[in-house]
Amino acid sequence: MKQDWFYKAKEAAEFLLSRTSLRPRIGLVLGSGLGAFADDLSDAVRIPYAEIPFFPRSTAVGHAGTMVIGSAGGVPVATMQGRVHLYEGYSAQEAALPMRVLGRMGIKTAILTNAAGGINLEYGQGALVVLRDHINLQGQNPLTGSNDDRFGPRFPDMSEAYSKAYRKLAIAGMERLGIPPHEGVYAGLLGPSYETPAEIRYLRTIGADLVGMSTVAEVIAARHMGIEVLAISCVTNMAAGVLDQPIHHQEVLDTGERVKGQFVALLRGVLGKMAASF
Ligand code: HPA
Repeated sequence: MKQDWFYKAKEAAEFLLSRTSLRPRIGLVLGSGLGAFADDLSDAVRIPYAEIPFFPRSTAVGHAGTMVIGSAGGVPVATMQGRVHLYEGYSAQEAALPMRVLGRMGIKTAILTNAAGGINLEYGQGALVVLRDHINLQGQNPLTGSNDDRFGPRFPDMSEAYSKAYRKLAIAGMERLGIPPHEGVYAGLLGPSYETPAEIRYLRTIGADLVGMSTVAEVIAARHMGIEVLAISCVTNMAAGVLDQPIHHQEVLDTGERVKGQFVALLRGVLGKMAASF
């Protein structure tokens, strides 16, 4: 059966908007262990993904699976605590549906966060890195199949997938907060196994600074709809083979927990500046 993604996005968006009088123009997707930002929004409504029509449910540890619509310093935001991944068995279309729902809710800007392995040797564990670009190595694209012009064009441009203006704004925010400012290229892989050291050498050769298993499908769907994107990775671990030690998922979660204060402060600062520019 042909999947009607537009219908699904519209139904889910209408449901979510019926639960709040806020009308967010900024959407956030918070990755593994990085959901703390949504914990203290004011006037917040919390809606489990299970209650949202057609919404995919995350099975990953560290992903709450809750949509929180609320205000951060007076700025209304729609915040996803947790996302689904292709490695969970979801298609790129399913993984991108939440972004399309945010788009139908009326957001014009998306801020995505994720946990990533550090390939660039200038990064240390716990570094925050603003994405400059990505390399899609997931073998899938959420826009395959017939194009729905109501979302966007058949062949969307990706030459500035990550807004230059928002990258600048985030880097300035890092400098203000004393966070070492980094920008890098994110390689999106399917997972769920971590990479081999040979794969990491390959990724470094092709220009990747970071590696992760999310974000790419969401960013493609966002750009298709003309949504401006800012994405920030937390380097939860150095990539395979950089250090002479194995990678554990617990380490990924622990690092997220450790930098959570910095991350929340950065997101708050960036949101304030974005809202002021609308
Ligand atoms: N590789 C891929 N995804 C990740 C990693 C990694 O090293 N760390 C956190 N997410």
